[in-house]
Amino acid sequence: MTSAPSTVTDSSVTLLGLGRMGSALAGALLDAGSRTVVWNRTAGRADALAARGAVPAGSAGEAIGASPLVVVCLLDYDNVRAVLEPNAGTLAGRTLVNLTTGTPEQAAALADWAGAHGARYLDGAMMAVPQTIATSEAFFLYSGSREAFDAHRSTLDRLARSHYLGPDASLAELWDTALLGSGYAALAGFLHSVALLDTAGVPPTRFLPLALRWLNGMLAFMPELAREVETDDYSDGVSPVDLNRAAVHNLIEVSGRRGVDAGMHAPLLELLDRRIADGHPADSFASIVEVIRKRRA
Ligand SMILES: NC(=O)c1ccc[n+]([C@@H]2O[C@H](COP(=O)([O-])OP(=O)(O)OC[C@H]3O[C@@H](n4cnc5c(N)ncnc54)[C@H](OP(=O)(O)O)[C@@H]3O)[C@@H](O)[C@H]2O)c1
Repeated sequence: MTSAPSTVTDSSVTLLGLGRMGSALAGALLDAGSRTVVWNRTAGRADALAARGAVPAGSAGEAIGASPLVVVCLLDYDNVRAVLEPNAGTLAGRTLVNLTTGTPEQAAALADWAGAHGARYLDGAMMAVPQTIATSEAFFLYSGSREAFDAHRSTLDRLARSHYLGPDASLAELWDTALLGSGYAALAGFLHSVALLDTAGVPPTRFLPLALRWLNGMLAFMPELAREVETDDYSDGVSPVDLNRAAVHNLIEVSGRRGVDAGMHAPLLELLDRRIADGHPADSFASIVEVIRKRRA
């Protein structure tokens, strides 16, 4: 049985967007027993959720008006604007949680826009895939209104573990970008290694156990890297710039001789070279952050 979306209850949650992620989010809310009002541009995508108890709304405006908490999960911020702007008048007094991926600047601008229309705004970044929603593997980052986060945290925790980063709405997207950067570098490095070992006929699944063991060992150095960067002290690190320069140079040479593209490692070699040129060959590996930071200026 479903009730009409026009019935507003304090615990009701509205979800705009029922793509792969939005459907998983709606499913998690239903599993947790929340009254869940759903809307999607292509209305048929709500059918399976309606069969599980979701309340389909006839329009985005109707969906927004049905709950104090409105969660948005569309493809990009342009879609979010296109859906919300015609319904701006309905937002006053509600909390808008936008889980759509975008840039820090887009998040800040949307926070200003929502605030100007009387809504509390929380930007969110989903460190998850649809399959991990509502599992311990997933976590979501939030920034923006602290008041909104505190008021709705118990509901948000039903989607994934919540981390509040601060009142600046752009922070969740910035952290998301930073986390993606670390992840992409590790995965791309693994794929380069796979291609290199392929030249000797080693299948990826045979390489995998030792790769995992090695990368886990590398991860154990991260706290030290963080400490060195935070204290600006690179004098007593794990391994020095010049030694790592030789290793990365070798990696690129060996790859090239075997016809494997090592272009992804060339920027690291350049950073190490610049740190040496700056007169710091004996500083620890972490000190290349000083060269990276210089590019910011
Ligand atoms: N999938 C993941 O693993 C993952 C992980 C982390 C973050 N994210 C982020 O989550 C967001 C949603 O991703 P998704 O995987 O759910 O994407 P998706 O399956 O492609 O769904 C996209 C959603 O956006 C809607 N949409 C697209 N253009 C629209 C428009 N012009 N007006 C109104 N609605 C529009 C779609 O509606 P229709 O059904 O009508 O097309 C659908 O509801 C994205 O920002 C993505 O980067 C995804």
